[in-house]
Amino acid sequence: MGGFLGTGASFGSDLNLVLQLSMASALGVGMALARRKHYRAHAVCQSAVVLLNVALIARIMLPAFRDGVLPGLPVEVAKPYYSIATLHAAAGGAAQLLGIYIVIAAGTKLLPERLRLSNYRRWMRAELALWWIVVGFGVATYYIWL
Ligand code: HEM
Repeated sequence: MGGFLGTGASFGSDLNLVLQLSMASALGVGMALARRKHYRAHAVCQSAVVLLNVALIARIMLPAFRDGVLPGLPVEVAKPYYSIATLHAAAGGAAQLLGIYIVIAAGTKLLPERLRLSNYRRWMRAELALWWIVVGFGVATYYIWL
């Protein structure tokens, strides 16, 4: 199905782009909530983004990576079409796993004491920075794939 941004990308790519940019902004709003000590609202906001992204990876990005990138690896890896998407996927996988870990460690009592976080703030800051870098590589992938 054709996209709706007029760039020639598919509907899935356009939808993912718009949702990802909205979610990246929502994480910024969530950070501001934490700064104002609205910790409950902060937790709901950041967790919703991390969980929604599981669906976007499973339905849009992983299939696009499997069909569009994997068949060309490792032979074509020097081409930006493959290298930027691969960097994005590797960093994105790490950001998503770290996000899930933070949600479980900070928001639940499921993990044993020794696996919980002792310095939430530092990990959440690192995760936010990594997430925004991943979004940057994602936007680059979108343009390179046009
Ligand atoms: C925190 C995790 C992630 C974030 C924030 C993120 C963000 C983005 C953004 C903003 C785009 C541009 C929109 C688009 O072209 O669809 C994108 C595209 C893409 N992402 Fe991710 N991504 C993440 C994880 C992943 C993972 C784990 C993979 C693969 C295993 C992946 C593979 C791709 C691919 C192949 C595209 C291009 C899809 C297309 O245009 O058809 N991403 N991502």
